[in-house]
Parts: sequence; C-alpha cells; structure tokens
Amino acid sequence: MRILAIPGSLRKNSSNKAILQFTRTLFPSDSTFILYESLADLPHFNPDLDDEQVVESVIQLRHELKMADAVILCTPEYAYGVPGSLKNALDWIVSSGELMKKPTSVISASPSFMGGDKAFASLTLTLTVMDAHLVEGSSLMIGSVAQKLSSTGEVTDSYTIAALKQMVKNLIQAALAQV
Ligand SMILES: Cc1cc2nc3c(=O)[nH]c(=O)nc-3n(C[C@H](O)[C@H](O)[C@H](O)COP(=O)(O)O)c2cc1C
Repeated sequence: MRILAIPGSLRKNSSNKAILQFTRTLFPSDSTFILYESLADLPHFNPDLDDEQVVESVIQLRHELKMADAVILCTPEYAYGVPGSLKNALDWIVSSGELMKKPTSVISASPSFMGGDKAFASLTLTLTVMDAHLVEGSSLMIGSVAQKLSSTGEVTDSYTIAALKQMVKNLIQAALAQV
C-alpha cells in the first residue's frame, strides 16, 4: 500500500509534520509512506499555466497523488482558514482530478483547544467538492497539540494515539476496498 502524507505547514519543527511522521509508524511495515515536503516549490495557482505550461513540481505532485492508494492531509489553521500553501496545492489538482474517489483522511492540529476546527471544516469542504473519498471514522482534530507531543515529536497522548490507530485502520480498509 502506498500512502501520500501532506503536511499543511512549511515549518521545520512543524507539529503537523511530526504527527504524520508518527502516523507512519502505525502502518504495516510493507507499506510505502511518502511524506510530501514540496508545497513551497509549487507556483501560485494560475489556470493559464495549467493550460499552457505545467511546471515540474506540479507534475510531480499530480504523479504522487495518482500513485497513492490513500492520502492523509494534516494541517494547522492560519487566521481561521487552511494555510495558503496547502490550498494552493489543492487548487492545482482540481482540474487534473487525482483526488477523485481517493481514500483520504483529514487531520487538523493546533495549540488551541479547538484543534483547528475552522481549517478542518474548510479543508473538508474543499475535498468534498473535489470528490475525494473522505473515509468515515478517518478524520481527526487534535487540540492542545503541544501537550500531546514529546520534545522529539512523538505523539504521547494515549487518546490521540488510539484515534490515529483507528484512523489508519479505517483508511487501510477503504483503500483495500478500492483496489
Ligand atoms: C499567522 C498565524 C496565524 C494563526 N492562526 C491560527 C488560527 O486561526 N487558529 C489556530 O488554532 N491557530 C492559529 N495559529 C497557530 C498555529 O496553529 C500554530 O502555529 C501551529 O503550531 C502551526 O502548526 P505547525 O506546528 O504544524 O507549524 C496561527 C499561527 C500563525 C503563525
């Protein structure tokens, strides 16, 4: 099974990236888990470029999405919304459609106890209109994230670990059903 994990933060010490790195350990060892770290390489979405000269970074993102059996997005909330860099990436794949019917999990994580609920809702709406397969029981909002990670980025909160395990189980099931 091939999983593409996309963090919505560009920060080196991103908590969202740490959650995805921890989630990697919950998949069977024969899975291929790819952490996509190239959001910053994508140009600003412009439909003219999409028609005329699609750049290599966009071709690569589309390829990774196409090859993936399942996708996980894990994002912070910026100013009550989805970070621009993540929304920009999604805009690039509206017309090419690689997320259509793709088993997908959404996680938001924030230092706030609300867990980035507005970004979560907005991202879910965008993915719904893109016809991604948002797998039931496979999405999660993680509040007070700083208290749930160790200094080395391991998830230490038992409830969050259990929720991530359930998320992975449901995502794998959905991906296998689609093969
Ligand atoms: C410009 C800016 C705006 C932010 N807006 C929100 C917000 O609306 N809601 C929220 O819960 N956190 C907000 N935060 C806090 C982020 O959730 C926090 O920095 C988080 O750790 C970023 O995720 P990361 O650790 O994966 O980079 C904001 C942070 C920045 C820098």
